[in-house]
Amino acid sequence: MAGSLYKALTGSLTLVRVALMGTRAPLFVSWNLTFRCNLRCAYCGVEDAIGPELDTDGVIRGLESLWKQGARWVTFSGGEPLTRSDIGEIVKAARNLGYSVFISTNGALIPRKEDVIRQVDHVTLSLDGPREVHDAARGQGAFDQVMRAVEICRGIGVSTSFQCTLCKCNVDVVDDALELAETLGVPIMFQPATMRLDSSSRPNPIAPDPDALRRAMEQIARAAREGAPVLNSPEGLRHLSRWPNKADIWCGAGRLFCVVEPDGYVLACHQFQFAEAAQSRAVATGRDAGRRALPGELQGEQFASMSPLPGCAECWCGPIVELAMLARFRPGAWRLAVRRQLGLLRRRRRG
Ligand SMILES: C[S@@+](CC[C@H](N)C(=O)[O-])C[C@H]1O[C@@H](n2cnc3c(N)ncnc32)[C@H](O)[C@@H]1O
Ligand code: SF4
Ligand code: SF4
Repeated sequence: MAGSLYKALTGSLTLVRVALMGTRAPLFVSWNLTFRCNLRCAYCGVEDAIGPELDTDGVIRGLESLWKQGARWVTFSGGEPLTRSDIGEIVKAARNLGYSVFISTNGALIPRKEDVIRQVDHVTLSLDGPREVHDAARGQGAFDQVMRAVEICRGIGVSTSFQCTLCKCNVDVVDDALELAETLGVPIMFQPATMRLDSSSRPNPIAPDPDALRRAMEQIARAAREGAPVLNSPEGLRHLSRWPNKADIWCGAGRLFCVVEPDGYVLACHQFQFAEAAQSRAVATGRDAGRRALPGELQGEQFASMSPLPGCAECWCGPIVELAMLARFRPGAWRLAVRRQLGLLRRRRRG
């Protein structure tokens, strides 16, 4: 407990330095360990991006080098990170280095990977709504797998939250997702499904209607005011309600966070490579949005020598938007972050 409070305090100081003084540190690393996945969600195109992957040693050396640059929180994501057979070794190494370790997962493999889950600090589970809604976006049986994952995490005392991606299937029924989160006592963060499939340049056939998305954001903000366990700040929700129109926001890409792709290539931001801003810049297209890695360069070195991005005004990822709100000292975002750190986000809305 004292250790995590100390880390939260020093992390906050780093964030303030980056925000006010223009220094850089990869405080938050999102590491896509693989683009392989056991599901085929309708709004996601990770299968288009499947390619070479760093081996266990490569990942561990990368974690060491990023730690030296100031990285302190790592989220293992993908694709589905639990499909990596060496995920246990990777998580253990990250913990030994001192990282706070998060896993972003669809939950399906948690029953087989309980030993790994025991070692992480937090599990983010995708949840799009009740069974029929969740399964419509994510495939038959996916909902029951998330419920089982919640049960297991609770049983072994690992904290969880839900990540809810709003698409055509659920944008009109966010109350259902909110109610489920409340009933289960698991806080929930929302974000719009993007116009393109995740990790792909193909269009997303179930992107939500923009007006419906705006109404959903208002509804979520209302529920949060009444005490629902929502992990988006009021300021973050206001930003997201402008989707898909361009909306300026402080950009932490390559300043406060970075993304490591499965092959070890460091991007300032995963979203930027698919943004219009990247497509229109001759030097920053496709995978080279951010910078080009030199052969053999470790991930910390890649971060150190990259140029931060100019920002793309197409920032729709819930956690990244919250970081931006913190870096701009929005009071609602700070209140939420402090409450989250102190573990105060409990259900207390409907009696
Ligand atoms: C790419 S997944 C990787 C982790 C894991 N496989 C999972 O689904 O939780 C991370 C998050 O991205 C979300 N996501 C996928 N496609 C998206 C899209 N087109 N727009 C916004 N979020 C998306 C998922 O719902 C999930 O919460
Ligand atoms: S959202 Fe996650 S679970 Fe669904 S296909 Fe993409 S990577 Fe797999
Ligand atoms: S503004 Fe664009 S480049 Fe910057 S973090 Fe957001 S999505 Fe990434």
